[in-house]
Amino acid sequence: MSGQLVQFAYLAAAVLFILGLRNLGSPKTASRGNLMAAVGMAIAIIATLLNQGVVDYVVILAGVIVGSAIGAVVATRIEMTAMPQMVALLNGFGGGASALVASAEWLSYLRGDEEPSGIVPLAIVLGVLIGAITFTGSLIAFAKLQELMGGAPVTYPGQQIVNGLLGLLLLGLATGLVLDPSNMNFYLGLLALSSLMGVLLVIPIGGADMPVVISLLNSYSGLAACATGFVLGNSGLVISGSLVGASGIVLTKIMCDAMNRSLANVLFGAFGAVDASVATADAGGAQGTAKGYTPEDAAIIFSNARNCIIVPGYGMAVAQAQHAVRELTDLLESKGVGVKFAIHPVAGRMPGHMNVLLAEADVSYDKLIEMDAINSEFPETDVALVIGANDVVNPDARTAKDSPIYGMPILDVDRSGHVFVIKRSMNTGFAGVNNPLFFNDNTMMIFGDAKGVILALTESVKELV
Ligand code: TAP
Repeated sequence: MSGQLVQFAYLAAAVLFILGLRNLGSPKTASRGNLMAAVGMAIAIIATLLNQGVVDYVVILAGVIVGSAIGAVVATRIEMTAMPQMVALLNGFGGGASALVASAEWLSYLRGDEEPSGIVPLAIVLGVLIGAITFTGSLIAFAKLQELMGGAPVTYPGQQIVNGLLGLLLLGLATGLVLDPSNMNFYLGLLALSSLMGVLLVIPIGGADMPVVISLLNSYSGLAACATGFVLGNSGLVISGSLVGASGIVLTKIMCDAMNRSLANVLFGAFGAVDASVATADAGGAQGTAKGYTPEDAAIIFSNARNCIIVPGYGMAVAQAQHAVRELTDLLESKGVGVKFAIHPVAGRMPGHMNVLLAEADVSYDKLIEMDAINSEFPETDVALVIGANDVVNPDARTAKDSPIYGMPILDVDRSGHVFVIKRSMNTGFAGVNNPLFFNDNTMMIFGDAKGVILALTESVKELV
């Protein structure tokens, strides 16, 4: 394939990536977006394989077979609730691959190949630096989320100073290697200390900040790939890497806003102190008597309601209640009750978690309303049905300045006429804080597994014809 044709293929792939990202912005067009990006990636891969300079197709084929087999098995077996750690692992492997490719290029120069020139030495250094940080940082994030190590932040006195000094040392080694590319000590030092930096940057992070750091590491993996693209002179990799880097940063910002963390807070690693307070937060605070209701009691209120907003949360995912919820929605609508879904940006355990589950159950996209658009509707709503959500409906986030989740935007369910909360106990959610919503006069708890309760509620509403 001629060089020009390859560049044209990369351009076509880049256009498909950008259109794919654009379409991923809405649940309605997300599968189309995914397909477009996948076709773009297929074009980029084929163009790369047909490019001159491929040394051994057998090795590549072996890699494709082994990688595809592992990927297919893992993707089909992984539980939806374990998605964040899967993404962490994929980010880590992406970063690790970039560091390896950059290292291979550097080693080939040491073996006597042409000396890297122009931007290449800097790109090699950045590929190793960012790739190694992403690799080890992502492995720590995976270990925390998979509970292979404690999820609580690991902090120690002088942590920021140690990280700052290490950062300066890395800067020195990186500069040294750019200026003196044949210095093996600089290279080994950079690789080792970057790997250490990844660990040190992620250990002080825990609790509700983990999704933010995963998104940030995703961005880093894109930047590492972009640097590797410059090393290899591959514009397809430069473009796709920078798109991943940029979209990861945008997602990080959206999640920071949704969880009330500033981006500077994330970038400068000041998570430890905040998360320590989350981890040790007094789970007391909210007190009173919660009223327990049965699905049969609830059915009477539902059958008299004009409208209902359903608020799904992590518990709906755990119970896999989405299909039962869809049946209840259909039934209520057939009885003239208007039903909408309120989607909080960090409900569940991964971005878009609730959208994915509800789409799987064929709930129409136009019923899924984002937090900012639906909050004004709660005061006009007869019934809010909270299914396994906790932190995202905690009114303390609005008012309790000492609460670890103070300032996090929430869904204003407490402003509805009646609030039903389905969960198994009075236990706290992800942030580990109590929820005063459960003790409000207009709140009724229905204790039980979300799926069982929804099925019972559906039966009871049916019987009330
Ligand atoms: P949470 O605050 O985690 O609360 C979920 C609730 O579901 C729990 O209180 C639990 O109470 C209940 N539950 C669990 N299994 C259940 C089941 N089988 N049936 C019924 N209820 C069940 O969830 P949320 O409101 O969705 O908030 C998400 C939290 O996770 C936020 O703090 C967010 O910051 C954090 N987070 C989000 C993400 C992303 S990107 N979405 C990633 C990581 C962390 P019981 O035990 O009493 O049943």
